[in-house]
Amino acid sequence: MIIKGTAYIRGSYENCYIGIEDGKIDFVKKSLKTNKEVEKFDGVILPAGIDMHVHFREPGMTEKEDFYNGSVSAAYGGITAVMDMPNNDPAIDSHSRLEKKIKIGRKKSVIDFGLYGLMCENVEKMAELTDFFKVYMASSTGDQKIGQEELKRWLKKAYSHDVKVAFHCEDEDLFYEPGENLAEHNEHRPLESELEAIEELKGLPEGDKYVCHLTSKKSLDRTTDHGFLSEVTPHHLFLSEEAFLGPFGKVNPPLRSEGDRYSIWEAFERGELNFIASDHAPHLEEEKEEFADAPSGVPGVETLYPLLLNSVSRGKIDLSTVIEALVLNPAERLGLKRGKIKEGYDAELVNIDFRDAEKIRSEKLHYKCGWTPFEGFQGIFPQNVISKGEFLVKDREFMGEKGRGEYIGDN
Ligand code: DOR
Ligand code: ZN
Repeated sequence: MIIKGTAYIRGSYENCYIGIEDGKIDFVKKSLKTNKEVEKFDGVILPAGIDMHVHFREPGMTEKEDFYNGSVSAAYGGITAVMDMPNNDPAIDSHSRLEKKIKIGRKKSVIDFGLYGLMCENVEKMAELTDFFKVYMASSTGDQKIGQEELKRWLKKAYSHDVKVAFHCEDEDLFYEPGENLAEHNEHRPLESELEAIEELKGLPEGDKYVCHLTSKKSLDRTTDHGFLSEVTPHHLFLSEEAFLGPFGKVNPPLRSEGDRYSIWEAFERGELNFIASDHAPHLEEEKEEFADAPSGVPGVETLYPLLLNSVSRGKIDLSTVIEALVLNPAERLGLKRGKIKEGYDAELVNIDFRDAEKIRSEKLHYKCGWTPFEGFQGIFPQNVISKGEFLVKDREFMGEKGRGEYIGDN
């Protein structure tokens, strides 16, 4: 395949021909004489995104999402690799459950995927199948909270196998009464509980630590001061407790104050966050009716890149900062050669037009749950998505095949 267009290369735009062979970029040339067919793209060509944090809900909760549907949604949003979380039903806490889930992904995923195992006593055996594990310092969807002493024991074992560990940081001892609206949900699971849980990580065995979904500059500073890696979500960047979302904005950790939101946005803009990931955590509309009973979590894999591209287009953030947190840092962590349009790199590309900003509408998205907390926000969706040297999305139509995604993350 040969593409002609304007590609984002080394921080600027260049008109070029991109040759793709065996799923890899074979050449990037300024001019080319060929009688082969050339795909001409309008707009610009960028690296495709990698979402380090999704909940595709399989096995066990496939009425909310599943591997096929979730990965198709991702593809429409310009994401060609995801890392899926282990809070399934049953939870991914054994070698055989992990093995089964890898099979599900291989059968159904249309994009590359890696899997987090749940940190548990079986971590050593599970480390044969994945390098990635998740620790819940508080319970959220599913009940995965564990005691400090056993956690220390498991982590020691885990780190001897060189694994990478993501933490959901909230300390339940600092929770108050459950609330009835977003502001009260923020009081119920306050920022202090996030800060305290990050502090507790210091007392754990030394090794790779990645703190998920940071909600303020304060928690980011604590994370970086301790030498941990940091992640932020689009909902904590674009939404606050003031959003008119009711139960549809209920998520853990909660949407914070406008001040906290702005503080983490400014830090993100300065390039202080290592990763941006969607934490795509869909629940059904009928479950989100009553605030008190509603499960926490919001969908986001399809709108992640489009929201960020819109911010770039409006001059709110540099494209290089977005690509760093959405592609380059994830690729490095996963051992993938992605994020640069350069010979030898994976041909995982999106073609977007910065003039294509449109209102995000849930009926145009592809989630099973049928709603988005970003209804009415502006987004820039890709026209074309190239993956492994073929069209995954062409002229905004999905073209991929079930099961074409490969398992990653056990390098
Ligand atoms: O709001 C959340 N939803 N936070 C989590 O930690 C889990 C997630 C889910 O799986 O629904
Ligand atoms: Zn999550």
